[in-house]
Amino acid sequence: MPAASPDPSPADGGGLPQLPPGFRFGTSTAAYQVEGAAREDGRGPSIWDTFTHTPGRINDGSTGDVACDHYHRFSEDVALMKDLGVDGYRLSLSWSRIQPTGSGPVNAKGVDFYDRLLDELLAAGVQPMATLYHWDLPQALEDDGGWLNRATIDRFAEYAAICGERFGDRVEHWVPVNEPNVVMMMGYGIGVHAPGKALMFDALPVAHHLLLAHGRAAIALRDSVPAGTTASVGCANNHAPMWPASEDAADIGATKLFDAMWNGLFIEPMLLGRYPVDLAPLLEDVVLDGDLATIRQPLDFYGVNYYNPWKIAAAGEDAELPFEFRELLGYPTTDFGWPVVPDALREWLIMFRARFRAALPPIYITENGAAYNAGPDADGVVDDQARIDYLDGHLRAVATAVQRGVDVRGYYCWSLLDNFEWSEGYQQRFGLVHVDYESQRRTPKRSYQWYADVIAAQTRSL
Ligand code: NOJ
Repeated sequence: MPAASPDPSPADGGGLPQLPPGFRFGTSTAAYQVEGAAREDGRGPSIWDTFTHTPGRINDGSTGDVACDHYHRFSEDVALMKDLGVDGYRLSLSWSRIQPTGSGPVNAKGVDFYDRLLDELLAAGVQPMATLYHWDLPQALEDDGGWLNRATIDRFAEYAAICGERFGDRVEHWVPVNEPNVVMMMGYGIGVHAPGKALMFDALPVAHHLLLAHGRAAIALRDSVPAGTTASVGCANNHAPMWPASEDAADIGATKLFDAMWNGLFIEPMLLGRYPVDLAPLLEDVVLDGDLATIRQPLDFYGVNYYNPWKIAAAGEDAELPFEFRELLGYPTTDFGWPVVPDALREWLIMFRARFRAALPPIYITENGAAYNAGPDADGVVDDQARIDYLDGHLRAVATAVQRGVDVRGYYCWSLLDNFEWSEGYQQRFGLVHVDYESQRRTPKRSYQWYADVIAAQTRSL
């Protein structure tokens, strides 16, 4: 077969990637990863405070106690966004800053902080997309069983209503739960994220409870936003194309199972109100009458967090799980070791649309980015050409998918700032802006200027 020629797209032609007029360009962060001020102004402890303060959990022994000190420096960070020219910012609200124990009264200083941040964003022409849960469960709720306990969903719906009522006049888009698959797998399945439980398949109820939390929060947000405003509610699900390690039937079977657990387990209930057939029996005990209808709330948008495809093989006989992960060879890798495969994003978007068509609302890329760890050189320049190449490839992939009929409305680069990368601590730098954690000095990298150029080069009208 002759090699396929590249797709003609508005992104080809040697210039900067071009997206349709009105396309949203943004950046993305999360509260625990940037805010710091962990014990200030009444904020209660979350499971990430507990986890990071447990020796041995974080590779570099660090915590998010200070992080990027965004709590105190948010004005400087909003100014960076304004100069960048983005018109969107995906942030997360810290539940334990707003309700220190996850239930009961609101912490006035906590909501004040978000009031000031949202106001400043809007004054800078940046529309907020707010995530309610980016993994920082109030510790008091974890003490009661966390996401294994169905009662946590009721608390989450109450918290969502507080946020809808208070911030609904200024938040353009809402994301109830960030990456529920990562929470299930990393937090409760293998325990490398907070709360650090290694329950393997017994973590599946967490997925169901997070999906219900998503549905209940969607209802609560729509009911609570101020009169005259409508809540636009979506999701931010991490999706990865799953590639079998070989043609072997066992590898293909393992890949299908893992694909169902990582992707289908979250897509199908949200969009179709059902669980993938292979997994439904495993959830029988936790799914109650009406749950699937609660989960399948109408979505105003579907957020995709995309980083890379995964290569899956059947595991050996003694393994705890039936699948294992193999290195995807033949591609460049980021400093984190993640393969760089922009074509897989294009294909994934095209297939996603082909499979779900009418059930699929407009898509936003709610996260995409790469860890490259270059710091300032002698002249203070952070030369991160590799990040530019990564972002360029992925924006072109999105442009091609759009040209092929996929309704992608925006792209939020992960991340505005270098920040606390969970179990990696501060060792992996995803930012368009370098952060010196000693001085808290921000230095825009070359990729920041490149992204500003991309945004400035867009055709604004038809
Ligand atoms: C997904 C998560 O939402 C975000 O918190 C994380 O830092 C990035 N991926 C990079 O791993």
